[in-house]
Formats: sequence, structure tokens, C-alpha cells
Amino acid sequence: MVNWLNVWIVVALLVPVLLSLRNPRRESQTKIQTLPKPHSHKQTQTQTLHLPSSPSSSPSSNSFFNERIRDGSNLDYDFYRDTCPQAEDTIRSAVTRIFFDRRDSAPAILRLFFHDCFIQGCDASVLLDDSNGDKNRSIEKQAVPNQTLRGFDKIDLIKEELEQACPGVVSCADILAIAARDFVTLAGGPFYPVLTGRRDSNQSFYEEANDQIPRPDDNVTRTLRLFSLRGFNERETVSLLGGHNIGKIGCEFIQERLYNFQGTGQADPTIPVDFLNQMKLNCPENDTILEASTFEVSKLESSHSDIRTSYLQALSSAIPSGAAFDTHYYQSLLKGRGLLFADQQLMSHAKTARLVSAYASDDGSTFRTDFARVMLKLSNLDVLTGLQGQVRLNCSQPVSS
Ligand code: HEM
Repeated sequence: MVNWLNVWIVVALLVPVLLSLRNPRRESQTKIQTLPKPHSHKQTQTQTLHLPSSPSSSPSSNSFFNERIRDGSNLDYDFYRDTCPQAEDTIRSAVTRIFFDRRDSAPAILRLFFHDCFIQGCDASVLLDDSNGDKNRSIEKQAVPNQTLRGFDKIDLIKEELEQACPGVVSCADILAIAARDFVTLAGGPFYPVLTGRRDSNQSFYEEANDQIPRPDDNVTRTLRLFSLRGFNERETVSLLGGHNIGKIGCEFIQERLYNFQGTGQADPTIPVDFLNQMKLNCPENDTILEASTFEVSKLESSHSDIRTSYLQALSSAIPSGAAFDTHYYQSLLKGRGLLFADQQLMSHAKTARLVSAYASDDGSTFRTDFARVMLKLSNLDVLTGLQGQVRLNCSQPVSS
């Protein structure tokens, strides 16, 4: 009997112990079952990080691929050294040939390049005749500030030569960047290095070009803001505007300044009288100017000279020293003889006015150094590289995927 009692006592004690032993195991099992959550999260992160080979698979990998690099740090020195070693020489000799045939190609290409880089970066989007294969959408070329751009045919010419030598290799964005540098140098401007490896956009940015390219009647605040949005400070902006050392301007851009400044029916009162008279002689009132926006893109190149009946001789009113790319643009501004309202506005802001004086007052070396530096920066702006974008075969047509 005593033995049976002992057995019952042992059983009574062991059952709760055994039960208590089972419970923690259940809990730990539950814990283990909950573990996969953070674990699977970690796996997802790892997968995302290792996904670059399929860029469209997640939004984060998409943004990784589409992010444009503002400072060009992903460009290369002599990117085509293996794939098209003669690329830069081919561009240089074509540019030289074109320049000695038509010297006004230099300002045309410099302006074309500026308008390309300023809108979504140096991706040759301004050269496109349709956006992403959609011929019905408006394109950058049609935007108001771009309707007087010239030189598209020159870039096409260079591209054709490169396609013969190395088909499908050299991007239109690189051609435009190198050609702009070579034209600037031939026009007497400073040499600066241009890295390569840019890829072409398959999209065109009509609205952005309409809204964000600086306008000839902009005040200095708006000009500085538009440039600062792209990372250019005041000094860089003033030096970049030195691009107006070369080239010419259509009367349409100063008609209002001469005859109906800010709706007053009068000329801009800040223009010196002798200069006003001179400008009026070159650009008579009601000079027949067709509304540029009514022009079709296909007609732009050929009809460019028909749009205006007169052209001011040069974009800068002061006489260049002969080198063209000297400080005469800044000297004009110091004398109040800037042609565009936006140019002359540089004198109405203390800091930009100081910079204009500084550029105008030495032998030109400060401006040349700054201009070289800022052109290098412009050339690297928001470029597409690596697997981004594409290399077009014809600069006006995106390659369909
Ligand atoms: C506030 C900024 C700017 C404004 C409002 C502006 C506006 C203009 C306008 C209205 C013209 C005359 C176009 C024509 O008659 O066909 C012009 C010409 C030109 N611009 Fe600008 N521009 C600006 C900045 C720049 C910059 C930063 C560069 C280059 C780095 C540049 C380079 C040129 C050149 C070279 C021409 C002459 C083009 C030719 O002869 O075909 N511009 N600009």
C-alpha cells in the first residue's frame, strides 16, 4: 500500500513538471515560427541589392538604374579606346572641316549643347524628332526657346561618319559634347577635357524645355535660380553666359526691349541712347517676324533664315579683339550695352556685377579659366551611363526596343 502511495505521489509531481517542460518547448516553437518574418525581410533586401541584372523587377532597383549622375563621376577618360579608338579624332576633323566652311557653326553647336544639357542633362534629347517612338507627342525641338536652334545637320553629319567607322558605338550625347568643345576651341575659346561614356535618352522633354530654359527677358533672380537648380553658383552662371561672346541674335529677342519694354510702349530706359538708336537701325519696329511657334519642326532647319528679316550682327555689341572668345561680352555689359535684357541684368545684382567687372578687367585669363571649368561641369550634367538610355543609330531617332 505504502509503495502504491509513493507511486501516486511521484506521478502527481512529475505530470506538472512534464507539462511545464512541454510548454516552453511550444513557446520556443512559436518563436521559431515567427522568425521567418525578419528573416524573409532580410532576404528581400538582399535580393533587391543583387537585382541589377533585371532592372525592371522592383521600384528601388529601377531608381538605382535611372538615377542620373550630376557630376559625371561615372564617365570615363577615352571611353571608346577599345570600341572605337578613332572616335574623338573623327569628331575633331569633321568639326574642323565644318568650322572652316561655316564659322557660324561654332556658336550654333555651343548653344545646342547648352540647351541639351540644361534640360534633363547632356543626353542628346534635344536632337530627337519623336519621344520614345511616339510621333504625336510634342518634342523638345518644338519648345519655344529651341525653335531657333541650329546645327542639327552638323551633328547628323558627324554621326554618319562615326556610324561608318564604328556602327552603333558612339552616342549622340558624346558627339555633341566633344563637338561643342572642339568648336569652342576653334572659335578661340579655351580647351577643356571632355570625359565620355554618355548614353542617349529615348525621351524628349518638351514641357521642361518650355518652362526651364532661361528666357531673354528674365530678370537676374530667375536666371540665377534656374542655374542654381542645376548646381551652378553665381560665378559659374556669369562665366557660362560668356558663351554669348560668339554668335548672333535675331531681332525678335530684343523687339520688346526696343519698342515696348514691359508693356510701356517705350524702349527700356536703361539702354544708352546711342546704343538704342544703333539697335533700332538694325532691328526696325514691326520687322516682319513670323510666330516661331507656328513653324513645324521639319521646316525649322531650312526656314531658320526666313523667320526673321534681320539679324543683329553679333550677340555681344562690343568689338571682339580678334580672338572672339575674349572679354568683350563683359565689357559690353559694363557699358550698359548688353543686347538681351537677361544679359544686362547681370549688372543689376551686386555679386554678378562684381563678377562681370572682374572678367572684363584683366587680360581674359580669369574668364577663360572659369569658362573652361564651367563647360566641363556643364558637359557632365545629369548624364546617362552604363545600362541607362541607349546609343542611337541616327541622332534624331530613338532606337525602338
Ligand atoms: C540667361 C541665360 C541665357 C539666355 C536668356 C539666352 C538666350 C539666347 C538668345 C535669345 C539667343 C539668340 C538666339 C537666336 O537669335 O537665334 C542666344 C544665342 C546664343 N546663346 Fe544664349 N542664352 C542664355 C545662356 C547661354 C549659355 C549659358 C550659353 C553657352 C554656354 C549660350 C550660348 C549662346 C550662343 C553661342 C548663342 C548664339 C547662337 C547662334 O549664333 O546661332 N547661351 N541665347
